[in-house]
Amino acid sequence: MKKDVMIVTGAGQISMAIARRAGYGKKIVLGDKKIENAEAIASVMKQAGFDAVPFETDISDRSAILALIAEAEKFGDIKYLVNGAGVSPSQASIEMILKVDLYGTAVLLEEVGKVITEGGSGVTISSQSGWRMPQLSAEEDRLLAETPAEEILGLEILQPEKIRDTLHAYQMAKRCNEKRVMAECVKWGAHGARLNGIAPGIIVTPLAVDEFNGPRGGFYKNMFAKCPAGRPGTADEVANVAQLLLSDSGAFITGSTFLIDGGATASYFYGPLRPE
Ligand SMILES: NC(=O)c1ccc[n+]([C@@H]2O[C@H](COP(=O)([O-])OP(=O)(O)OC[C@H]3O[C@@H](n4cnc5c(N)ncnc54)[C@H](O)[C@@H]3O)[C@@H](O)[C@H]2O)c1
Repeated sequence: MKKDVMIVTGAGQISMAIARRAGYGKKIVLGDKKIENAEAIASVMKQAGFDAVPFETDISDRSAILALIAEAEKFGDIKYLVNGAGVSPSQASIEMILKVDLYGTAVLLEEVGKVITEGGSGVTISSQSGWRMPQLSAEEDRLLAETPAEEILGLEILQPEKIRDTLHAYQMAKRCNEKRVMAECVKWGAHGARLNGIAPGIIVTPLAVDEFNGPRGGFYKNMFAKCPAGRPGTADEVANVAQLLLSDSGAFITGSTFLIDGGATASYFYGPLRPE
């Protein structure tokens, strides 16, 4: 029997939790820039009964994305996308964050949107960071949503003199992810498919541990201590939301990004996390 094919990018904890929740009975093609990460996660999943194959890819490179899609299509029609590939403010330069998190996500959503099969569904992981940043103008939001991916890094608002630091680059990238999800879901809809985003708060993963131990470690620890939930989240809780979005229960949900942050954003605006 032919299996539905699920592309998963970023062989990290969040991707794995979602793939384990929603990927049973499916062919899972697991792409990561670090093939050893993809192999490690595929191996854990295989030992738990999942049909996962590792594949080296780089979401910041359109040709590498096309190679990933071609690999996935060898197994059948692509019905699901889980994009959990990304770099964080303490891991990468401004240029790298914009190239991977902003441009790479835009290209991936566009290319998978061209081939996604009817009834398909995708989720991409953005971040609470995109929600905390001050509002952009309606025109800036529109440019982030609709500028062709190949031109997007040339936008004036993304030029080096406009980006203060890696956190600002990350916030812009994650805001852009939400806007791309809205614009792309219209094209995915033409294929009878849906596309949504999930914006997690602090989720304990190797990426978050890098943040805890990085220059903003105190800031992050304060954030989860003072958010209504009083703790960081787990990848499995992100998978709870993804399961809804990837299943038929989410059939009327498309073009949305769901905040799952233990209330940290609410506390930032209206509670003890509000900046002085
Ligand atoms: N962990 C958190 O607290 C948190 C919070 C908000 C958002 N996020 C977002 O969730 C996503 C997944 O994060 P995670 O915590 O699971 O991280 P992780 O570090 O566990 O996994 C990320 C994976 O992405 C891969 N990757 C990096 N650049 C790539 C590229 N160019 N092409 C392909 N793969 C690449 C890495 O090699 C790594 O295996 C990221 O987009 C991150 O920004 C995480």
